Amino acid sequence: MERKNSHMTRSSKEVASSTPYRILALILTFSMLLALGLCACSGKSTETTKKKKKAKKTTKETFETVSEPDEDPPTTSAVEPSDTSESDPFTTSTDDTTTSSVNPVVGISLPTKALKRWQDDGMLMKELLEADGYAVDLKFAGNDINTQLVQIENMINEECQVLIIAAIDGDSLTNVLDFAKAKNITVIAYDRLIRRTDAVSYYVTFDNYLVGTLQGEYIRIALDLDNADGPFNMEIFTGDPGDFNAKYFYDGAMSVLQPYISSGQLVVKSGQTDFYDVGTANWSTENAQNRMDTILTTYYSDGSQLDAILCSNDSTALGAELALSTSYTGNYPVITGQDCDITNVRNILSGYQSMSVFKDTRESVKATVNMAEEILTGSIVTVNDTSTYNNGTINVPSYLVSPVVVDKSNYEEILVDSGYYKKSDLS
Ligand code: BGC
Repeated sequence: MERKNSHMTRSSKEVASSTPYRILALILTFSMLLALGLCACSGKSTETTKKKKKAKKTTKETFETVSEPDEDPPTTSAVEPSDTSESDPFTTSTDDTTTSSVNPVVGISLPTKALKRWQDDGMLMKELLEADGYAVDLKFAGNDINTQLVQIENMINEECQVLIIAAIDGDSLTNVLDFAKAKNITVIAYDRLIRRTDAVSYYVTFDNYLVGTLQGEYIRIALDLDNADGPFNMEIFTGDPGDFNAKYFYDGAMSVLQPYISSGQLVVKSGQTDFYDVGTANWSTENAQNRMDTILTTYYSDGSQLDAILCSNDSTALGAELALSTSYTGNYPVITGQDCDITNVRNILSGYQSMSVFKDTRESVKATVNMAEEILTGSIVTVNDTSTYNNGTINVPSYLVSPVVVDKSNYEEILVDSGYYKKSDLS
């Protein structure tokens, strides 16, 4: 065996050193280098995928996505889990070079892993698309606008055919999406509308205005605003003003509550009712907690009762709850939320939050995957609304899914019986 090997080595050396073979070897090396250089410049894989052609099942795994821990944020944590483990768009991964040379057919860019819903959305989308044979590149952007821009740019360079984007800032993607449009890539805005561009083709979301009206209605009924002796004190926390959804949530809730504010039945002691005054940058729990702390110290430390806190989602609700737990001694207020994040559902069960609006993201994910596949196979794309969502440039054909209210009375039926959570997860 040894002899055979050494013979083989020797003879290949001999071959390589003879002049005609040397020239041939030089030509071959040069052509290989040239070919590699061309591939790198065009950003294409050697197995270039074609528009509307199914990709091979082999998937380009994205390193940061699959290696993420699956931990839930602690109930008492005032700070959102760090996003530092989310994708750094400037680093490369061995996965990138050692896995398949097939480029992703579908690029998915989501805002953050800090809220469990986005993680679940991304992982399920990826799983369903891969099960149908499409290669997927899934990235989370750590709630950082520039990171998301770079990630999307990379996906475009990778020649994906469909981009699914939940924008961190709905106004920041105009230029990068012009680039996508020039490359004939179809863009689906997921959950959050992308504004001021005609390069977005479809939108899948929940009825965001309805989310807000459900929250407003919950407060109206819980405080019995039409019959009870008031006035009642309420404070308001909505989301990041850069997220187009935040305005829909706010408008929907205020459509119910504003008449009671105007009549004096609801009093906002802080005076903060304007959309921008009640916004929460990045939807951050910490920012909401800080603002609630200041409000409690300034307006409620005299023993005033706080009767309700309108929170547009669960991360802001958690901030309000954490502030209350350290510096409020009155009767516990009605608190709204959205997403049924596991921490908040636990808080609903233990009485620290009143309700959350459940958006069964398994439904919006399925609708999105279905839409992506319709696009990729050249089929008619399923939408159920063509007039509600104007992004400032066009009416974006949309598929809307319905949200539902969850509280202590129905969480079992909606969240446990449907398999969204195991009952044991909630205690
Ligand atoms: C989503 C909510 C989410 C919020 C913060 C909104 O655009 O619709 O479900 O709670 O962003 O991430």
